[in-house]
Amino acid sequence: MRQSRFLAGAVLLVATALATQSCTRTAEAPTPAEAPAAAPASDMAAVVSVRELMTNLVDPLSDNIFDAVGSDVTSKGIVETKPTTDEDWARVRQGAIVLAEASNLLKIPRKAAPAHDYVSKNPGELAPADIDAAIEKNRGAWNAFANAMRTEAIKVLDVVDRKDVNGVLKAGSDIDRTCEACHLTFWYPGDREAVLKDRSSRAYTDPVKK
Ligand code: HEC
Repeated sequence: MRQSRFLAGAVLLVATALATQSCTRTAEAPTPAEAPAAAPASDMAAVVSVRELMTNLVDPLSDNIFDAVGSDVTSKGIVETKPTTDEDWARVRQGAIVLAEASNLLKIPRKAAPAHDYVSKNPGELAPADIDAAIEKNRGAWNAFANAMRTEAIKVLDVVDRKDVNGVLKAGSDIDRTCEACHLTFWYPGDREAVLKDRSSRAYTDPVKK
């Protein structure tokens, strides 16, 4: 028990160090992942589908950023939320680290959906087999969407260092657009027109939450 807590601490330290490093590194030179050198063959293997990666990792951890700042109308009046304690800020940072690294996971070839759930649920959505085909045909675009999410997630690390509350709000909106850009191409291209129209009629909201 004690050992596993120590390990978790060590992993967090390493992750934080790496994240800080890559943050400064992007300012001067491309990160290794962006360098043009051919990717070495690797034994990385996808464990779950894109959908499960979204449900279990990308979506819940992005809420660490999306839900960090905002205001809610309640029976007690307007309740403002913003990170105040070190723990609150650590949660925002955790979301950023997971999203930045999730972009790498998205680039490991994997099926769109688990085999037992291989039908699309809504009319505007591509069926998983069609998502697979679209990714196969245009992996460059897929990877570029994943990279865009990473770029915006990395910016959050700096925002957290400066404890910049408005920065969290802006970063959330910028990250959200990278989610939606990929979804509009590879998940619900049939809804593109409606989503764009809806977006232009509103200030920022989270379109991922239906
Ligand atoms: C590189 C492309 C890509 C990026 C970036 C991306 N997604 Fe997704 N996401 C997909 C695809 C494709 C699906 C549809 C998978 C399916 O249903 O088969 C999906 C599905 C989802 C789902 C539905 C899961 C379910 O159970 O039906 C949620 C929620 C989601 N994404 C959230 C997000 C959030 C939040 C972000 C950004 C922080 C994000 N996604 C970024 C490609 C992406």
